[in-house]
Amino acid sequence: MPTLCKPGVLVTRPIFPEVIARLAEHVRVCVQEEDRRLEPAALRERVRGMVGLLSFVTDRVDASVMDASPELRVIGNCAVGYDNIDLDAATARGIQVSNTPGVLTEATADLAWALILAVARKLVPADRHVRQGRFHGWGPMDFLGTDLCGATLGILGMGRIGRAVARRAVGFRMRILYTSRSPVEPLPADATLGGAGFGEGPERVPLDRLLRESDILTLHVPLSESTFHLIGRQELAAMKPASILINTSRGKVVDEAALVEALRDARMGGAGLDVYEDEPALAPGLCDLDNVVVLPHIGSATVGTRMKMAMTAAENIIQGVQGRRVPNRVNTGLPVP
Ligand code: GLV
Repeated sequence: MPTLCKPGVLVTRPIFPEVIARLAEHVRVCVQEEDRRLEPAALRERVRGMVGLLSFVTDRVDASVMDASPELRVIGNCAVGYDNIDLDAATARGIQVSNTPGVLTEATADLAWALILAVARKLVPADRHVRQGRFHGWGPMDFLGTDLCGATLGILGMGRIGRAVARRAVGFRMRILYTSRSPVEPLPADATLGGAGFGEGPERVPLDRLLRESDILTLHVPLSESTFHLIGRQELAAMKPASILINTSRGKVVDEAALVEALRDARMGGAGLDVYEDEPALAPGLCDLDNVVVLPHIGSATVGTRMKMAMTAAENIIQGVQGRRVPNRVNTGLPVP
C-alpha cells in the first residue's frame, strides 16, 4: 500500500527503530521525536487524523484527545497499567485500548527487589558515604540494616508481578503474606513456594493483618478508584515501627504526604519508591529523608523488556487498525471485533 494511503499511527515518544519498522509495514508512522511528554494541547494537535495511537504512561489520553481524531480506532498503551487512559470514553467511542501484560513482570519484580535490598541494607547512604571520602575503615556499628531472612514480606496485590516478587522471596527464606481478590492458584512457576524451609506457602490475609505483620510491604495493585490512597495515614500508622514500604505500582496508591510524615517522625523504617503521586513531582520533604530510595519510574526499564513492551503495543495497534480484535484489549465491554 502506498505510504500516504496507509492509516496513520502516532507514537508519542521515540522508541526502538525495530518497532517503528514493524509498524511501518502496515501503517504510516508519525513519531514525536522529542523525548518529552506531550502537553494535552500538543497531543490533541498531533493525534488529529490518526487511526492508531501508541501511548505511554506519561500521556493523559482523555475524551478531548479522542475527539481530536474521530478516525481513532485503537490505542496501544505501552505499559501494563492504563490508568492514564479514560477507558469509558474510549469504549463509548468504539476505540479499542490495549496494554502490555506479562512481558514486564520479571523486570518489575526485579526492581521491587532492588528497592527492598537497597532500603533494607542502606545502600544509597552507604554509597554516598564512600563517594564523599568519609569511609575511613570498617566500623562495627556502621550502616546497620535489616535482616531479610526470616522477616515477613507483605504483598499487596498478588497478580503476575506480586507472584514474581513472592518467588524471589523464597530464596531469601522470608515468610510471605498477601492480600488479593482471590487466593493464588499454585502455578508451575510458583512450584518452589512453600518448600523453602518455613513450612507454609504464602498466606492470604486481610489488609489489616498485612499491615500489622509485614516487615516489608510491597505494592502491586493497579490504580483504580478502590486503590487510590489505599495506603493512607491510618494504614501507615498500623504498620510496624521499623517497617519498609516499597512502591513500584502507581504513586496514587499511597498518600505521599502522609508517608513523608510517617518517615520523618520515624514511625516507619524506610521506603523504596519508583512511582509518585504527582509524577514527576515529589511530595515536599521526600528527598530530604535519608531512609528513602527514590527512583525515576524505571520498573520495566531493561532493554529486553522495553523492546517486548513496545513490540506488543505495536502488534496490538496493527490488529486494531485492520479492524480486528486487539489481543490485549482492556475495554472488554466493547462489542466485537
Ligand atoms: C509502568 O508503569 C507500567 O504500567 O507498565
